[in-house]
Amino acid sequence: MNILHISASPRTAGSHSARLAAAIVERLQGIHPRAQVVLRDLSAEPLPHVDAAYADALAGVARPGAASDAAARSDALITELEQADALVIGTPMHNFTVPSVLKSWIDHVLRIHRTFAPSPEGKRGLLRNRPVYLALASGGLFLGEAARQPDFLTPYLRAVLNTMGLYDLHFFVLQGTVRSEQAAAAWQQALALLDQRFPRAA
Ligand SMILES: Cc1cc2nc3c(=O)[nH]c(=O)nc-3n(C[C@H](O)[C@H](O)[C@H](O)COP(=O)(O)O)c2cc1C
Repeated sequence: MNILHISASPRTAGSHSARLAAAIVERLQGIHPRAQVVLRDLSAEPLPHVDAAYADALAGVARPGAASDAAARSDALITELEQADALVIGTPMHNFTVPSVLKSWIDHVLRIHRTFAPSPEGKRGLLRNRPVYLALASGGLFLGEAARQPDFLTPYLRAVLNTMGLYDLHFFVLQGTVRSEQAAAAWQQALALLDQRFPRAA
C-alpha cells in the first residue's frame, strides 16, 4: 500500500489543511500499518510553472532536447501518482480555488496521452481509479447557505481528478478557519466525519 500525500499549504505551523491531511494519513496507516507514505510538499519544494519547452511538448511541437527536463519532471510526477494506491491532498482555498503551487502540480500531471486521452465523448481518464482523500481549509465559508463567496475549489478538484480517471473522492472540509469559534466547530465536524469513515478498532 502506497500513500501519496500532497501538501499545498504555504504554512508549516498552524496549517489547518496540513493537520487534517496528516490525521487522514494517520487513519490510513492505522488500517494499513505497512503503508509507505510519500510526502510531496508543494510549498517546501514548489514545482516550476509550465515553461515553453513543456508547452511545446504538450502541443506536439518537436524541439529535440529542449523538452527533456520538463517532460522528465512531469513523467516522474505521473509515475509517483501511478504508484500510489491512495492519495491524500491537503490544501487551502486561495482566492476561491487551489493555491498556485497545487495548480502547478496539476499542470504537470493532467497530461494528454499520459493521464487522459481525448475521445469523441470528451477527455477519458487513463489512471486506475483509487481513493482520494481531500483535506480542505478556508478562512471563510464557501459551502452551504451561509456561504458568501464562490467555490471554484471543489468543482475544480473534482473535474481535474475525474479527468484522470479518479472518481473515488472523499472531501473533508474545514471552513471558517479565521474565526476561532467557526474553526472549532469545523474541526469537531471533520473529526466526526473521520471517525465515521475510519472507525477506530474497539
Ligand atoms: C493568498 C490567500 C488567499 C486566500 N483566499 C481565500 C479565499 O478565497 N476564501 C477563503 O475563504 N479563504 C481564503 N484564504 C484563507 C485561507 O483559506 C485560510 O487561512 C486557510 O485556513 C488556509 O489553509 P491552511 O490553514 O491549511 O494554511 C486565503 C489565504 C491566502 C493566504
